[in-house]
Amino acid sequence: MAALRTNPQLQFVKYRSKSRDFIPLYEPTITEEMRQAVLQGFDERLWIRGSREWDSQGRRFEEEVCQFIGCKYAVNMTSGTAALLLALKAWGIGPGDEVITAPNTFPAPTDVIMWTGATPVYVDIELDSYCMDVSKVEAAITPRTKAIMPVDAHGHAADLDALMEIATRHNLHLVDDSCQAIGAGYKGSKLGTHGHCATFSYTRNKPMFCGGDGGLLVTNDKQLAETIWMLANHGRGPRYYEGSMAEVAYRALEHEISGLNFRQSEVLSAVARVTLRSLQAWNERRRELAARYTRLIHALDTDIAPPQEKPYAWHSYWRYVIRTPKRDKLRLFLSKHVETKPTYHTPNHLDRVPRTKYGFKEGDFPVSERYARENLALPMYPALTEEDVDFVVGRIEAFYRS
Ligand SMILES: Cc1ncc(COP(=O)(O)O)c(C=O)c1O
Repeated sequence: MAALRTNPQLQFVKYRSKSRDFIPLYEPTITEEMRQAVLQGFDERLWIRGSREWDSQGRRFEEEVCQFIGCKYAVNMTSGTAALLLALKAWGIGPGDEVITAPNTFPAPTDVIMWTGATPVYVDIELDSYCMDVSKVEAAITPRTKAIMPVDAHGHAADLDALMEIATRHNLHLVDDSCQAIGAGYKGSKLGTHGHCATFSYTRNKPMFCGGDGGLLVTNDKQLAETIWMLANHGRGPRYYEGSMAEVAYRALEHEISGLNFRQSEVLSAVARVTLRSLQAWNERRRELAARYTRLIHALDTDIAPPQEKPYAWHSYWRYVIRTPKRDKLRLFLSKHVETKPTYHTPNHLDRVPRTKYGFKEGDFPVSERYARENLALPMYPALTEEDVDFVVGRIEAFYRS
């Protein structure tokens, strides 16, 4: 088989576990209770939750998410990407429309906007929070704008009240892409209720997980929640379920709307219920580790800028992301003992499709471009120890001394 990698110093090390002299970027905490949940979800044999009403792992997970977040409705589905896409679909966003988002993140926000046929309109970020710069949003609004999709970068909330004020004034929808930030906070409450809806991901390396992909849309809007559920489940609503009980079967059931299949597996939902119970403690642990990183990095007195937390945010540190102009050299130096990752090193507007489709160019969003050149995520997960953090910072110190 052809070799996949050309740079042996930057090997793909995701599946290496922590050892005395190697700290991976991420390592999940897996417990016996999670393993038992897999078996339970499997042995219950429902596997697929065909109706929202059925007593199921998925339904209980949604109820527990509502309690945890403090929202009225949660729709469990196959991914955070699906949740974002369905929010835009539920609002009828499509060709000719524009959606405002940030250009410094995972491609999902841009992709879902393009998949609806709408156009992504980017607003640059703040260099301290890595979130959308609210002061630049109004200048990006046009008569075609239909929604704002801020991203809660790495667990740090965007300034959602300020964004909601703009959205309300311009009659726009606001979907808070909180896929990186489940359990994080904004002005004293959990993220999820500060826009018209919010989306979460609980895929492999997120603050909580399930042993596969997983996503949620949460909202206080009953009609939106019901539409999203139908979109995720072949458009099945009351006409379908009532019709399926009819004594005379011919043409008794109808699909309420045109939907697809984004239903989450019962096995994965059972695991998600277990990891949700640890989420608060895990996020608090991440904050402790982040505080230690920040203190030690400040003490080094180098050109590294540690991540910052605005007064309105309760950062959950899904990722601990520093910035330095020496990012690439530092990463190479660390790679033997510490796995790190630039997140994300191609700004979305300069990625292949948006660049060629809409003509974006270097310099369009200078703060995001600087961020893409300088950012580096350091290892961060609840099983990391104080000694591990000291080791990572020790290696960073060695780089600056060399
Ligand atoms: C900002 C952001 N939005 C959306 C997603 C998509 O979530 P998922 O991977 O569950 O589809 C991610 C995933 O990493 C993300 O980081």
